[in-house]
Amino acid sequence: MDKVKVKINPSKKTSYSVLIGEKLLNKAYDYISKVTNANKFLIVTNETVYPLYGEKLRNKKSEFIILPDGEMYKNMDILNKILDKALEIKLERKDAMIALGGGVVGDITGFAAAIYQRGIDFIQIPTTLLAQVDSSVGGKVAVNHFSGKNLIGAFYQPKLVISDTCVLNTLSDRQFKTGLSEILKYAFIEKSCANRVDFNLFGYLKAYKDEIYNKNPKILKKLIKMSCELKSCVVNKDEKEKGLRAILNFGHTYAHAIEKLTHYEKYTHGEAVSIGMKMIFELAHNLEYISEEYYKNSVELINDYGLKTSYEEKFEPEEFYNAMFSDKKVADNKINFVMPIKERSVAIKNNIDKKYVIKGIK
Ligand code: NAD
Ligand code: GLY
Repeated sequence: MDKVKVKINPSKKTSYSVLIGEKLLNKAYDYISKVTNANKFLIVTNETVYPLYGEKLRNKKSEFIILPDGEMYKNMDILNKILDKALEIKLERKDAMIALGGGVVGDITGFAAAIYQRGIDFIQIPTTLLAQVDSSVGGKVAVNHFSGKNLIGAFYQPKLVISDTCVLNTLSDRQFKTGLSEILKYAFIEKSCANRVDFNLFGYLKAYKDEIYNKNPKILKKLIKMSCELKSCVVNKDEKEKGLRAILNFGHTYAHAIEKLTHYEKYTHGEAVSIGMKMIFELAHNLEYISEEYYKNSVELINDYGLKTSYEEKFEPEEFYNAMFSDKKVADNKINFVMPIKERSVAIKNNIDKKYVIKGIK
């Protein structure tokens, strides 16, 4: 088993571990009992994940709530159902919630835990690749509002994250690629995440394509570990996204516009992100922020993994641009682009001339 320590400044109390390895679900309560004194656990999962892995977590302390599956259920109504269930089973302040599922389950459970009795312990057991490398780490918890995604939420860190790589075997190819897209994101920003990174995720992705595609558990474990270490470095320096954390949104400004204009139905988040990453590389190349060689290498990496690089719609450029404006990464009426500036490095640029952005929208 590998371990990544997430240290949240300034309070050491909010440090926690991300455990990564095979068959960890079987021993989940051994790890959980080390981080909480809970007498009762409310396990929040969904109708897809429960039949696959739910029973592994059943014991005399556990109660379940099984949510319908889908992004559209990450809302206030379902949040209320979780809180109702917690009250019904008399979950107390020292008890805990466990999120067993992908990013949707993780985000809504974390938010329920953050507000139930002013905050109780919660444990993330992410079951998608995206959740294992991104959403389960860093404490962003939220539900959607009809006017936008993740608009109601909090920063609330879990007590522990347990990433069992075996659960990835039941993921669809599409969902696996969605997670890969976020891993590539880390490769493109890795040098900006920490002053010193003693690995090269970009090179690793180039070298181990086949093993990654075949879900070689050792290689996957390494990939998840590197991703969590990078995210941990960023969150350690900027938990509440006052600055640096925005780099984790590489490719996301375009992605959120694509998701919004297609009503969050057509593309998975990772698909929109890989399209967004290709678009920002194109913009950076056109504006000569990056060399021809790095541009080609990066786009090749996205293609190597068979990730989406274009959308099928014909968007009105103005409408697309306006959708980028309604993204949360807009400050002082300027779009903050996370721009590639050299190999594996990015910088925030908010002075990009609209005409260059419009040129890239097809
Ligand atoms: P998801 O939670 O919808 O899961 C994708 C699909 O895979 C679902 O149908 C789910 O039931 C299914 N599934 C989950 N685990 C499975 C398994 N082991 N085997 C088979 N099927 C499985 O989607 P996601 O991509 O995991 O997460 C997307 C959500 O995460 C979005 O709501 C997004 O806003 C959020 N997110 C949050 C953060 C954060 O920092 N909090 C970061 C990125 C994304
Ligand atoms: N996924 C972006 C963040 O955690 O900040």
